[in-house]
Amino acid sequence: MSRITAVQGRRVWDSRGNPTIEVDVTLESGVIGRAIAPAGASRGTREAIDLRDGGKALRGMGVARALDSVATKIAPALVGLEATDQAGVDAAILALDSSPLKESLGGNATVATSLAVLHAAANNAGLPLWRHVAQHYDTSPSLPLPEIQIFGGGAHAGRRVDIQDFMIMVPGASSFDEVMEVTNEVYFAAGDIMASKGKAAGVADEGGWWPMFDSNEEALETLVKAIEKAGEKPGNRVIISLDVAASELGQDGQYRLALEDRSMDSGQLIDMLGRWMDSYPIASIEDPVGEDDPEGMVEFTRRFGDHVQIIGDDYLVTNAKLVAEAEAAGACNAVLVKVNQAGTVTESVDTFKAARAAGWGAIVSARSGETEDVSISHLSTGLGGGQLKVGSFTRSERMVKWNECLRIQDELGAGSYVAGAPLAKTWWGKNKLKGSVA
Ligand code: PGA
Ligand code: ZN
Repeated sequence: MSRITAVQGRRVWDSRGNPTIEVDVTLESGVIGRAIAPAGASRGTREAIDLRDGGKALRGMGVARALDSVATKIAPALVGLEATDQAGVDAAILALDSSPLKESLGGNATVATSLAVLHAAANNAGLPLWRHVAQHYDTSPSLPLPEIQIFGGGAHAGRRVDIQDFMIMVPGASSFDEVMEVTNEVYFAAGDIMASKGKAAGVADEGGWWPMFDSNEEALETLVKAIEKAGEKPGNRVIISLDVAASELGQDGQYRLALEDRSMDSGQLIDMLGRWMDSYPIASIEDPVGEDDPEGMVEFTRRFGDHVQIIGDDYLVTNAKLVAEAEAAGACNAVLVKVNQAGTVTESVDTFKAARAAGWGAIVSARSGETEDVSISHLSTGLGGGQLKVGSFTRSERMVKWNECLRIQDELGAGSYVAGAPLAKTWWGKNKLKGSVA
């Protein structure tokens, strides 16, 4: 009764007001699975392509071509397949598109379909998605450690500052609930500080405060003050996490901080980030150098990899092969897992599992263009032992993901939260183990 009988796409709209694709997968039992494709703004060059219509209408962002690939290519190939065979379904999708970046079908078409099949299989079994994921992939479910944006930046804030995400993590909290509470305090403390300086100017794409700063470092200083104003000792329960998104700052190992009118090479960028890590309680950093700067990433990992989480996002584009290559080269010690970067559930889970096998961290992540889709809350919980990045602590397309985790918490029960374990190998985890962190 889990055979696919229909695959139906429709145009819906994302958090930036852009069109995107929703797919309904219907099974012979009558059960439906549904998912929506998200969309990135600071995209890696090696990630699956969103197929857009181009032209003048909808600023070129139309999805008629992607919907056409669902209707005329994907649906005929999937009807008759078993939804419970996620790997088989994803292989059938891949067989339709031999291009490396899914240019022909569109990654937006493939990701919405692939996730909808996962939902359909879970619904057919009468299971919440997280439990289906854990059973299907033989994993131990646990609620993830959140990574939450306080200030936006980079491509998500009109490049008002260069660094893309100024985030906090609360690895010292003992429950997911407590993370939400502490984040609320820090988020609004940061807003109060911005208002008191006359720098309150709304929010960026992912709901973090708009970064009205004179330098990138002023954002870090303000974040530390906000953590203190919230009654916390920075580096104790709460740590700072950055997404430099350095591929947006230049190429071929040459970078430019536009806000500060500074150009630097890879070594100078690494030195600057090193000084920041000496001055601020940063325990996790994403894309510290560009996707085309492997020497820089190896050097950064050699210098800081034994005490800071170093996440490859644009650098690894949710690709298990790139994770294996990076591990062999000594680059990164964690991977961001964005399902639409890979284009299918199977490739994303393979990447997650490759990271875990390497002893790496794995952070399931939303995109800056999001919707009410909560698949990633379930995916990160079902696969277990991980982290979850969905943007800030405002705006419903973000809050639905955190709130869904709270519902899952009720189903999974106390003790189901991974807490600070994913940061065990960082200075935070090592201090905690020595007892110097409460
Ligand atoms: P994007 O960026 O979704 O805008 O591509 C998110 C990130 O870099 O983590
Ligand atoms: Zn990133």
